[in-house]
Amino acid sequence: MEERALSGMRPTGALHLGHYHGALKNWVRLQSQMPCFFFVADWHALTTHYEDREVIEQNVYEMVIDWLAAGLDPEQCTLFLQSRIPEHAELFTLLAMGTPLGWLERVPTYKDQQEKLKDKDLSTYGFLGYPLLQAADILIYKAKWVPVGEDQASHVELTREAARRFNHLYGREPHFEEKVQVALAKLPKDSAKRLEKSRKAYQEAGDAKALEGALQFIATAEPLDAHDRERLTAYLKGTGKQILVEPQALLTEASRLPGLDGAKMSKSYGNAIAIREDRASIEHKVRRMPTDPARVKRSDPGDPSRCPVWQFHLVYSDASTREWVEKGCQNAGIGCLECKQPVIDGILKEQQPMLERAEQFITKPKMVRDIVHNGTLKARSVAQETMNDVREAMGLSY
Ligand code: TRP
Ligand code: SF4
Repeated sequence: MEERALSGMRPTGALHLGHYHGALKNWVRLQSQMPCFFFVADWHALTTHYEDREVIEQNVYEMVIDWLAAGLDPEQCTLFLQSRIPEHAELFTLLAMGTPLGWLERVPTYKDQQEKLKDKDLSTYGFLGYPLLQAADILIYKAKWVPVGEDQASHVELTREAARRFNHLYGREPHFEEKVQVALAKLPKDSAKRLEKSRKAYQEAGDAKALEGALQFIATAEPLDAHDRERLTAYLKGTGKQILVEPQALLTEASRLPGLDGAKMSKSYGNAIAIREDRASIEHKVRRMPTDPARVKRSDPGDPSRCPVWQFHLVYSDASTREWVEKGCQNAGIGCLECKQPVIDGILKEQQPMLERAEQFITKPKMVRDIVHNGTLKARSVAQETMNDVREAMGLSY
């Protein structure tokens, strides 16, 4: 099967340059490399914002406009809305049956976020289930790759565990072990014993030769029928049918852009620049950025490595500008406002094509809705296919 990528974002506010450099840029690159599914994780937003739905309502389509502005192309990738695909909730429920509570309690973001978002009561059932809902999002598309930031790695890990457990519990026909024993009993005792030995040699010591020999034997052993052979093959290899696919996080080699104050860029810290922020506000914010505290007066030398503006130069400036900054800062040859100008220019230049792309979607909101609608139809048919396999495996296809 062709490898797919899938990722989502929570619609909790206007996207900022941190999202662009940390994730979106990567999504844009991926869309031409493999089939990509990107969705608005509105249910996930509700796990933390269940008391302020307005925030989410306002931001769903705004976020899609930010995506399109950044260069996601609905001809190349599939864009959709989580809450329009109830199969995500169905898979979440079914996965929940066999997921130990401890798995969820131990996910590091669970306690971290409860600490960080003290103003919200996150001792809810929904919030505990956050990573399992995310697992359902991923597994329902059999996605191999999940482009996300470092902070999401533990969720992808839990997704792999959920897939493994599901395949282990349901990837085999009912009474598999007994049927294997019946097949083995058809063979002469010493042959059955040899098969058992080869199985151990392969599964415990990785002895591929032993496996090969055993497979050759069962391929021709007289008393076995085709079903026996298939069962014994799975038994020797230690595999069941793979129903759900274990995904991998695809971490952005972060050209990571911190916030205006050097901390992580986040709207709630008030240190962010929105993707479609207006020009005057960008100029104002960058001019007010803190700099190396050693540069009190224009004549005081400074050190770029202690200045958040430098982090922006690393993203936005070429080598010669960076050299100009380093020298000018260290020997007080330039002032901080002067130093910030190329950063302002860089942000505006990066933003220009995004504003142009956003324009038509702002004036024609129906276009955005149509894009999401079509993407949702496409995604849903994939999700439904997976759910057919899942229901059958779990004995729910009466
Ligand atoms: N938890 C992700 C975040 O906060 C959003 C998300 C929800 C997601 N479901 C997903 C990301 C599935 C990747 C895959 O960024
Ligand atoms: Fe920062 Fe530039 Fe000022 Fe140095 S000159 S402290 S790098 S803003």
